[in-house]
Amino acid sequence: MQEWIWADSLPIFAAMKILILGSGGREHAMAWKLAQSSKCEQLFIAPGNAGTAQLGTNVPIGVGEFEAQYQLVKAQGIHLVIVGPEQPLVDGVVDFFEEKGIPILGPSKQAAQLEGSKDFSKQFMLRHGIPTAQYASFTAAQMKEAQAYVSSHPLPIVVKASGLAAGKGVLICQTHAEAEAALKDMLSGQSFGEAGETVVIEEYLDGIEISIFVLSDGSDYKILPSAKDYKRIGEGDTGLNTGGMGAVSPVPFADEAFLATVEESIVHPSLTGLQQEGIPFKGFLFIGLMVIDGQPFVLEYNVRMGDPETEVVLPRLDADFASLCMAAATGQLRDVPMAIHPQTCVTVMMVSGGYPQAYAKGKVMKGFEGVSESILFHAGTKAEGEQIFTNGGRVLAISSLGDSIEAAVQQSLQGADMIQFDGKNYRRDIGKDLMG
Ligand code: AMP
Ligand code: GLY
Repeated sequence: MQEWIWADSLPIFAAMKILILGSGGREHAMAWKLAQSSKCEQLFIAPGNAGTAQLGTNVPIGVGEFEAQYQLVKAQGIHLVIVGPEQPLVDGVVDFFEEKGIPILGPSKQAAQLEGSKDFSKQFMLRHGIPTAQYASFTAAQMKEAQAYVSSHPLPIVVKASGLAAGKGVLICQTHAEAEAALKDMLSGQSFGEAGETVVIEEYLDGIEISIFVLSDGSDYKILPSAKDYKRIGEGDTGLNTGGMGAVSPVPFADEAFLATVEESIVHPSLTGLQQEGIPFKGFLFIGLMVIDGQPFVLEYNVRMGDPETEVVLPRLDADFASLCMAAATGQLRDVPMAIHPQTCVTVMMVSGGYPQAYAKGKVMKGFEGVSESILFHAGTKAEGEQIFTNGGRVLAISSLGDSIEAAVQQSLQGADMIQFDGKNYRRDIGKDLMG
C-alpha cells in the first residue's frame, strides 16, 4: 500500500489518497490546501459540504462512523486520514485507525483529553508549571464544597463544564448568584449533560486573546500562524457566543519576541510534558491564550484546528500541506519545509438569520461567480444539482489576503455583499480592534 518513495532521508510522498473527516469551513480549507499539492492524487471528504465536493469526493459517512470510514479507506486504498473536529478524536478515532495500521493525523484518545476534559488539562498545566488561571474543580458529589468555593471567590467568576460542550460550556458570571445557578445547572446535568458532571471554577483573566496553532508529530513540532477569532454574534463583540464570526491572521502584537515567550513557557513544556506522561501529541494543537501585560496564560487547549481560524491560517501557509500532514502523522515533520506568508488574511463568516439561536436551512444561495478576489470556504452548505443551499448556522467563510487588516477585510466585505441568501448576516467589524 505504501506508494511513496524515500530519497536522501527526505520523505517524498507521492500520489497520496487522503480522507478528511468533517464538514465545515475548516475541512473545506484543508481540502483546498491539499488540492494544491502535487503529492495529493485523490481527496475524499466524509461527509463534506458543497465546497469540498468541488475539490474531491464527498462520501456520506458521519464523523463518528469509524467502521464505515475504515471500509472506505480499505476500498479506496487511502493512505492518510486527517481528522477535522474534536468529537471523533475524543472518542478514539486515532487509536481505531492506528490499530489497523492506517496513518492518521490527530491525537490519541488519551491525548485528546486535553480538550475533552478541562479538569484533565488544568491538572496537566499545574503539573508542568504552564501558566494558566487559578482554579478548583468539583463533581456533583461535591456540590456543597463547590458552593462554598464560589461564594468566597472574587468576581467575576468563570464557571466551565469540564467536558465537550460545543464551545458553549464557559460562563463568565458577574454575580455570585449567577455563578451558583450556573454551578447547579451544570452539576445536576441540566445544562450540559455528562459534560457538566465535573465543573472547573476559574479566576477571571482580563487581557487580550490570541490563538496559537502547533502541528506536532509526537516529538518535533512546527508553530503555525497565529490568529484571533471573533466569537460574539454582534458587532462590537456584543450578543450571544457563536462558533466564530470571523478571524484574522497574524495578530499584530504577536511579534517574534512574544512568540518566543509562548514557545518557551507554553508550547515546549506542553508537548514535552505530554511526552513525559507517555501520551505524545500528534496532530494540531490549538492553544487559546489570554495575554496580560505581555505575559501569556493558557485559557484552553483544543486538539484540532479552529474554525474559522483554519480559514485564515492555511492561506498563509507556504508549504506542501499533503506532505506536512503525512509527515506529522508518521513522525517525520522535521524533514518537511514550511514557511509563513507575510500577508494578512481575514475571514468574514456569513451566517443564517437567527443563528446562534433557531435559524432556517435550505435557502437558495446566489452570487458566487461575483467573488473573484477572495476564497470562499463553505461551512454549512449543500448542493442539489447546480444549485447551492444553506445548510447550517455558519454558512460561508470569505477569506482574503491583503497587505493590511483593513485591505483584507474590505475585500472580504465586498465578497459578502455579492453573496445572496435569505436572512444573511455577518459582522462588518472583523479585525477593527486590531487596526492600527
Ligand atoms: P474556553 O472554551 O475555555 O476557551 O473559553 C471560551 C472563552 O471564554 C474564551 O475564549 C474566553 O473568551 C473566555 N474565557 C475562558 N476562560 C476565561 C478566564 N479564565 N478568564 C477570562 N475569560 C475566559
Ligand atoms: N473558533 C473556535 C474554535 O474552533 O473552537
